[in-house]
Amino acid sequence: MATKTQAAALLLCLLISTSSPTAYSRKPRRRSPCRELTFFFHDVLFNGHNYHNATSAIVGSPQWGNKTAVAKPYNFGDVVVFDDPITVDNNFHGAPVGRAQGMYLYDQWSTYGAWLGFSFLFNSTEYVGTLNFAGADPLMNKTRDISVIGGTGEFFMARGIATLSTDAYEGDVYFRLRVDIQLYECW
Ligand SMILES: *[C@@H]1O[C@H](CO)[C@@H](O)[C@H](O)[C@H]1NC(C)=O
Ligand SMILES: *[C@@H]1O[C@H](CO)[C@@H](O)[C@H](O)[C@H]1NC(C)=O
Ligand SMILES: *[C@@H]1O[C@H](CO)[C@@H](O)[C@H](O)[C@H]1NC(C)=O
Ligand SMILES: *[C@@H]1O[C@H](CO)[C@@H](O)[C@H](O)[C@H]1NC(C)=O
Repeated sequence: MATKTQAAALLLCLLISTSSPTAYSRKPRRRSPCRELTFFFHDVLFNGHNYHNATSAIVGSPQWGNKTAVAKPYNFGDVVVFDDPITVDNNFHGAPVGRAQGMYLYDQWSTYGAWLGFSFLFNSTEYVGTLNFAGADPLMNKTRDISVIGGTGEFFMARGIATLSTDAYEGDVYFRLRVDIQLYECW
């Protein structure tokens, strides 16, 4: 019995010494991005009259709203699913390099703010793979940072930050987002 207790005490000492905080803080951290990319994506919200042009639709709205117009105030409670073209410049009619697919939901009562969860599905000779994004999008900020939480294909295991800015906004129907991606983990 005594040897078992001694062994346990020794193990505990080892665990404590190897998990001291300095062991973590000494780990080197990459401070500059390993890859930088810029894209634009274009969102045309279904408004009841633009079925053939729309790239997104309100799929859930609060009890006082509906699916052809954003809810008031601040679109709060609307859940939108989208399948938007991605371009390398700000031209809506430019050749898309892929699709931005996922959802945004408006979750702020007191100002315009959304939460985003979506993927870039690249389909071009230039980029092959996917990138996955998630995070809060306080729309009144000129720029908003969301997380790049992973990737596949040429973006295998990618992680980083995507800085969003609203590049164009036309009423409630069309907006264009600029996405500046900085990856801090590349394989
Ligand atoms: C759809 O887009 C085309 C080209 O941009 C435009 O000419 C047309 O008016 C749009 N249609 C609707 C219903 O918004
Ligand atoms: C949806 O809501 C908007 C604004 O509140 C209203 O103008 C429109 O008539 C509603 N549409 C339907 C189909 O109920
Ligand atoms: C990818 O692009 C090719 C060629 O433009 C097209 O035929 C194919 O349907 C696209 N695939 C997807 C998943 O968008
Ligand atoms: C929004 O802007 C404020 C002030 O500039 C900044 O502190 C905050 O980090 C921004 N939020 C996001 C999510 O980028």
